[in-house]
Order: sequence, then C-alpha cells, then structure tokens
Amino acid sequence: MPLQGKNIVLGITGGIAAYKIPFLVRMLIKAGASVRICMTPSAKDFVTPVTLSTLSNNPVVIDFINNSKGSWNNHVEWGLWADLFVFAPVTANTLSKMAHGQADNFLTAVYMSAKAPVFIAPAMDLDMYKHPATKKNIEILKSYGNHIIPATSGALASGLTGPGRMEEPENIFKQIQEFFSKKKVLTGKKILITGGPTFEALDPVRFIGNHSSGKMGIALAEKAAELGAEVHLILGPTHLKPENPNIKQTHIQSASEMYREVMARQKESDIIIMSAAVADFTPEKKSNHKIKKTSNTLKLNLIKTQDILKKLGENKKEGQILVGFAMETQNELENAKKKLKKKNLDLIVLNSLNEKKAGFKHDTNKVTIINAELNTKVFPLKSKIDVAHDIFNEILKLYE
Ligand code: CTP
Repeated sequence: MPLQGKNIVLGITGGIAAYKIPFLVRMLIKAGASVRICMTPSAKDFVTPVTLSTLSNNPVVIDFINNSKGSWNNHVEWGLWADLFVFAPVTANTLSKMAHGQADNFLTAVYMSAKAPVFIAPAMDLDMYKHPATKKNIEILKSYGNHIIPATSGALASGLTGPGRMEEPENIFKQIQEFFSKKKVLTGKKILITGGPTFEALDPVRFIGNHSSGKMGIALAEKAAELGAEVHLILGPTHLKPENPNIKQTHIQSASEMYREVMARQKESDIIIMSAAVADFTPEKKSNHKIKKTSNTLKLNLIKTQDILKKLGENKKEGQILVGFAMETQNELENAKKKLKKKNLDLIVLNSLNEKKAGFKHDTNKVTIINAELNTKVFPLKSKIDVAHDIFNEILKLYE
C-alpha cells in the first residue's frame, strides 16, 4: 500500500470540476493516506466544506484567520506536514497566482510554503486553457519543478467541447499512487549524461552541425533524476531543456568544449552515458571574420575531434559504468558491437536511422541494447522517456 501513512494536502479552487474532488478524497482515505484540505473562497460554491471535512476527517481551511477561535491558520505548518501537495482543480486565476508568487489566500500561501512535491491539475474553459498566458504559466510552474496533470479534452461546463477538463479523479489518484510507488533505485549515484548535437564553427556566422535535438539525452537525465540519481547533463546547442530542477546542466557548443566538460567530471561519476551526437571532424581553422564568396569553390580542411567516449573507456575507473550510443545506417549490429569493444563500454544503445519515427528529433525511439558479453536485446518503438527507463533497467542489472 504505497499511500499508507502518507500525508497529503489537497487544494481546491473554484471550478466546476471541484464537485468531483470528494471521490478523490475517498480514494486517498481508503488507501490509508491522511488528507488535509484547503480551498479558495470561491471553491465552496462548487463543493461544500462539510462534505470534504466529513470525508477527510479533518477541518477544511479557507481563510488565514479562524474567527470562531480567534486564531490564525498556519500555512507554514501545512507546508511542512505534507508528503505531497495536490491542487485540483486549478483555475486559470489560481494558476497565474501560483506562477507569479501571489499569496493572497490560504491556498496560495500553502502552495508557496510547500516543502514536498506538488501536483497541479488545471481545469478551465478551452479558450482560457489555450490562451498564451495560461500556457506560459504552466511552463513557469513546470520550471519550478511542479508536476502538471494536463487537462483532458471533452464536454466543458460552458457547453463547448475541447481541452480544459480536469483529469478524472481515478487518474489523478493513479498518478499519486505511482509517485509513491516509484523506487529511488539510483539514490547516491552520480550520473553524467551528454545530449544534443555539437556545432563546429567555420566563422562567426556558420557552423557544421547535425540533426540531433537533445531529446534522448534530456529524457535520460529526467529518468535518472526521477530514480534518485545526482545528475549532470552536458547539453549541446538545442532549444530544449530538462524540467526537473535537480538536474545540473552545462551548455556547450563544440566537440572540444564537450570533451573538456566531460573529462572534468569523469572521476566523480559512477555512470556516464554519452548520448550526444558529437562531431567527428572540426574545421582546422576557424575564420575570425565571415568567409566571403570570393571564389566559385571553397575547400574546407577538417581535422578529427577527440573521441570522448573512447578516451573515457581507456581511463575507466573501477566499478564505473560506461554507456555509449551508436547511430548507424548500415551493418547496424555489427558496427555497434565493434564500437562497444573498441571504446571499452559496458552497454551500447543502437539506434538506426532506417527505423520510422526513431532517432533524431522524434519523441520516440527504437533501440537495441547490447552488453559487454554481446547479449543483444531488441526493444519496440517507445517514447524516449520509456527508452530511458529501459536503458536504466539494463544498467541496474549490471549492479546485480
Ligand atoms: N562519440 C564521442 N566522441 C566523438 C564521437 C562520438 O564520444 N568524437 C560517442 C557518441 O556520443 C556515441 C558513440 O561515441 O556514444 C558512438 O558515436 P557514433 O557517431 O555512432 O560513432 P563514431 O564513434 O563517431 O564512429 P563512426 O562515425 O565511424 O560511426
């Protein structure tokens, strides 16, 4: 029973979906959790505090001041008490207050005092949900490390149909359960992950790069952090970034910068995963000024970059796990096995550009993972976050 004995704060704001929250309270109580509920003043127009206090076995708090007792409600104590905060439904108005640190009622003050992870389930009419201000506020809240439970599509109270419905209480409950069941199997491990492309400058305007988006490296970093590891992500040029605020990041441009940053952290890392698409060649000379088109042809002299992974394999410390990627377009398995041996790896993750929806830029990937004994496991097409999960499963087997 993952919820047995857990303290959960439930915050309800004034949206029609608030009428569904008593079902969520019942599920949490039945699963063994202790539940405290706070509401915004307008939420009580949609669900009564008496229903909620009866179901949760605790008084429901709406105001800072408890007039009948002449005392104040201590939001800081609520912030410390909970193992998890769930705000559902959250209106566009409260979402904005949370994103901008406005603590003008007890619920928003509790949110700002939260010391444990926070789940937020927005619910509003579709135009409000689609509005750039709401989208921005959701992004801001994610960047603070909050978990957003996205609204679903369907019939809305306005009579319109579209996105904006609060996720069903059963599914919110499932996410809470999953949160408490996740084992932090990588706690205490330092993991270094690289991702994205490298850009090799030709002049101040141009570069030689590749199509990597960094999605796989970011997914690996997110999964590792979720599993409790201390993660450092070295990321090539990409507009994407990880959401988990615990992931340390270093941003680089070129293969030589990536080499320097990786090597500086080699010794301290328990696990190193090189998922970056590192340039194999770089211009011998970088022009200080824009190269002008003075002739009909232009010859570029390229020189080899350092093979970072090979260097890591040569200097692998006792007990360190080294994982490489192989991007192949032909003789995939054979080439990946050769790379595994040549670079002294514990695992190699093969992805092929021949697979549909796999590899560069896609949200999905289809990989084959090979271990040092050359045992090969073929995985189906999955989201990159699920691929990251499979990779960590294989890494964990190496510790058994
Ligand atoms: N890699 C690296 N340093 C480089 C090139 C590649 O660390 N200069 C790493 C990649 O991050 C990846 C692995 O080596 O984990 C394999 O990269 P890949 O491009 O598939 O192969 P290469 O070793 O570059 O060999 P080739 O280009 O001949 O396929």
